Amino acid sequence: MRVVLGSDHAGFPMKDAIKEQVQGLGHEVHDVGTFSSDKSVDYPDWSMKATSEIISNRADRGILFCGTGVGMSISANKVPGIYAALCNSEYAAKMSRLHNGSNVLVLGSRTIGLDLARAITEVWLATEPEGGRHLVRRQKIRLYEEESLKIEVSTCGSGGRVVVIEHPLIQHKLSIIRDKSTSVKDFRELVQEIAGLMVYEISRNLHLEEIDVETPICPTKAFSLSGKKLAVVPVLRAGLGMVEGILRLVPNAKVGHIGLYRDPESLKPIDYYCKLPNDIGERDIFVLDPMLATGGSASASIAHIKRFGGKRITLVCLIAAPEGVEKVSREHPSVDIFAAALDNGLNEQGYIVPGLGDAGDRLFGTK
Ligand code: RB5
Repeated sequence: MRVVLGSDHAGFPMKDAIKEQVQGLGHEVHDVGTFSSDKSVDYPDWSMKATSEIISNRADRGILFCGTGVGMSISANKVPGIYAALCNSEYAAKMSRLHNGSNVLVLGSRTIGLDLARAITEVWLATEPEGGRHLVRRQKIRLYEEESLKIEVSTCGSGGRVVVIEHPLIQHKLSIIRDKSTSVKDFRELVQEIAGLMVYEISRNLHLEEIDVETPICPTKAFSLSGKKLAVVPVLRAGLGMVEGILRLVPNAKVGHIGLYRDPESLKPIDYYCKLPNDIGERDIFVLDPMLATGGSASASIAHIKRFGGKRITLVCLIAAPEGVEKVSREHPSVDIFAAALDNGLNEQGYIVPGLGDAGDRLFGTK
């Protein structure tokens, strides 16, 4: 995980000690300062510096330090998408992750000792947010932020967003594939086109790095996608229908495959095929499953990818049912879900209503 650290002069000694601990736990640390306790500095400057790393997706989570922790937590919580928790006990730290999905931990160097700070840090880094009613509560906070500030809050590290992409072009093409008289050929082409159009939105938080470019006029600074890139993982077989549309825009993405079938007796998804890129743990992963119905196969696929080391996972579907969204959000609260439509629900056979029927059959002409 990429952890950003920031402190004022009062928090500096504790930051230095915790930095070593966080690195020792195998995390990538980005220390934005301050780097001494000699000069008195203003804590808001350092909390803004650190939190902007999270908001711009250069860090997954952050830890801030000042004398009491109060100033840092007040200022960090002014930043949309930052959920900073000032913790004086391991219990509060654990709950701040489980229930509140805090993405910033704040520690007061003059109010707690170093041993307690270390214990708090360890439990906070190791705890993942819970779904269910806690997810609903976190989404209410996010909704409040978005409505009151008229912005879209995008935070990595806390995850769990459900984004319906209402772009007119996507909605227009979606209506055509819903139509039962659309031919297999048109259906196939349109699914690829919709998946391609969705790339613009699902790739919004990819990491960028500054590069030097020489234009015909002069040298300039520009941006390039940084680090390990993307992995696209279609859930067989319907997910295959979205792969080409995405690869057209991100041609260097690696492609993994996951095959699942539903055991007729237990109704549980059983995986029969799984081949993922070796470095899956270092990639941003887009799991493709056009129809998020009960959520059984999507959730099982995500669990499988996590077992292979996958961390930054986004689920991309064309049509989602509330039942599927609920299941994936509950079982994988840090996974963002992108869909072109959120439909009414499922019928008795488990099909999404109104949906578009069986995406696999319609893509491959098997019915
Ligand atoms: C600095 O003296 C102190 O006010 C600051 O570190 C912090 O405790 C503020 O909340």
